[in-house]
Amino acid sequence: MMILELKGTQVLDYLDQLAGLRLNIFREYPYLYDGQLEDERRYLSGYADQGLVLLALDAGRVAGAITGMPLAQESEAFVAPFRNAGLAPEQFYYIGELLLQADYRNLGWGSRLLARLEQLVGEEGRFSQYCLATVVRPEAHPSRPVGFVPIERFCRQHGYDLMSGVVAQVPWQELDGQVSSKQLEFWHKACLAPEGCLRRDGQS
Ligand SMILES: CC(C)(COP(=O)(O)OP(=O)(O)OC[C@H]1O[C@@H](n2cnc3c(N)ncnc32)[C@H](O)[C@@H]1OP(=O)(O)O)[C@@H](O)C(=O)NCCC(=O)NCCS
Repeated sequence: MMILELKGTQVLDYLDQLAGLRLNIFREYPYLYDGQLEDERRYLSGYADQGLVLLALDAGRVAGAITGMPLAQESEAFVAPFRNAGLAPEQFYYIGELLLQADYRNLGWGSRLLARLEQLVGEEGRFSQYCLATVVRPEAHPSRPVGFVPIERFCRQHGYDLMSGVVAQVPWQELDGQVSSKQLEFWHKACLAPEGCLRRDGQS
């Protein structure tokens, strides 16, 4: 397995593979997302402008991916909760999705993709925090699989803390065909410049 780093417009060569990954994995609980290829292609094209996408490739097959962009470049639904909480969106780097095909999970690849993205962003020295969003579902949701491992566990294991008072409402169509608004919570982690790397603000 190798990691391929796509910066800016390089993502455009992988739109269909990435869209396939999202459409497939986001059908799972807790997302239950019934997406359309054209919408996915449009959304993913947004990473061509200041975005970063890392692909986990296994013999050429896209086994997983992580995406990110400056939060200030994200849609208003994601930026407004930060502004409303008195936080400066320009200081945050937003991790959009981290996805591994089911047969590639629990092998350390999600952790490796996240660490590499954090390293690349940290080296830039432009941001003070990374952030990511998780979807809120009631514990007793009828579609929750037995033995489901909430993603919050992964967030905590990797040093992310839940942000207080920063929530978004985002609508999408679920597998039952109904469009409904979902609540997203945000997690953050200090974005430390790597050892020996001087940040642009002059602090090491
Ligand atoms: C969450 C995910 C990215 C983790 O990547 P991974 O390569 O499987 O994880 P790693 O092997 O690096 O680390 C293992 C940890 O990942 C988490 N994890 C593994 N499989 C998981 C799953 N199916 N669901 C949620 N978390 C999972 C656990 O916290 C696990 O640690 P634990 O065994 O101590 O509980 C991956 O499981 C996945 O793609 N899940 C579905 C999509 C998703 O929810 N993505 C996150 C939001 S966009």
